Amino acid sequence: MEWGMKNRLSQLIQKDGRAMFLPIDHGYFQGPTSNLEEPGKTIEPIWPYADAIMLTRGVLRAAIDPAITKPIILRVSGGATMARRDELDNEGITTSVTEAIRLNASAVSMSVYVGSEREHQTLMSLGNLVNECEDYGIPTMAVTSVGTELGKRDARYLALASRIAAEIGARVVKTYYCEEGFEKLVRGCPVPIVIAGGPKVDSEFEVFKWIYDALEKGAIGVNLGRNIWQHEHPVAMAKAVRAVIHENATPKEAQDVFDAVKSGKAD
Ligand code: 5RP
Repeated sequence: MEWGMKNRLSQLIQKDGRAMFLPIDHGYFQGPTSNLEEPGKTIEPIWPYADAIMLTRGVLRAAIDPAITKPIILRVSGGATMARRDELDNEGITTSVTEAIRLNASAVSMSVYVGSEREHQTLMSLGNLVNECEDYGIPTMAVTSVGTELGKRDARYLALASRIAAEIGARVVKTYYCEEGFEKLVRGCPVPIVIAGGPKVDSEFEVFKWIYDALEKGAIGVNLGRNIWQHEHPVAMAKAVRAVIHENATPKEAQDVFDAVKSGKAD
């Protein structure tokens, strides 16, 4: 592996082999998502706890201080919106690799829709993006998207989508956690896996449990958005999630971190 690729990957994946990515890219198809209407304000108190931030070039330029020292994972796919939910898989590449270099991105990311009508289109986009990014030592993170079909998040489907993305050349795969068969999914994917959270759930303890279990079964971390910044206590969430990922905190210990920060007993 070339020095540049190694250098960028080591900005994303920390020395302990773990990673906490903070995505705020949701507006690229959802528009002004709840709690992300002003992404700069949303992210300000929580970005220090993340290892990298995932977002589009529009939000990066408009809302992020260029003096920020966090690595940027630039979302480069899009072209579909919630206004046409049946067309969510109709994505292409919206942002060039030249732009990613100009913006000093440490990685790029894009969605693939395995099993959908546009499966071929999105997988070919991934191949083309990887071809170009590898020339410049830029890692590609593939996002295994399910659109509105959240029921697709079972091990069999996610293992297929993750393996395909890795075979095509993604350096990191973002997928979802599933209780049954997650270890098999990880075993079948030759590159590091991070998990997303999906829509916000009611109990933070549940989030800590997913993450803990996913790490135990071989994931390297998270690309977790809504369950942090849509939470009433986003800083407490960010710190507790960080404790699970980088301090091996159990769900119970993470809950203690969360409660202490929430109640003001800890910073
Ligand atoms: C949106 C994305 C998100 O980055 C990803 O789904 C993670 O966010 P969340 O934890 O909110 O699901 O790719 O398409």
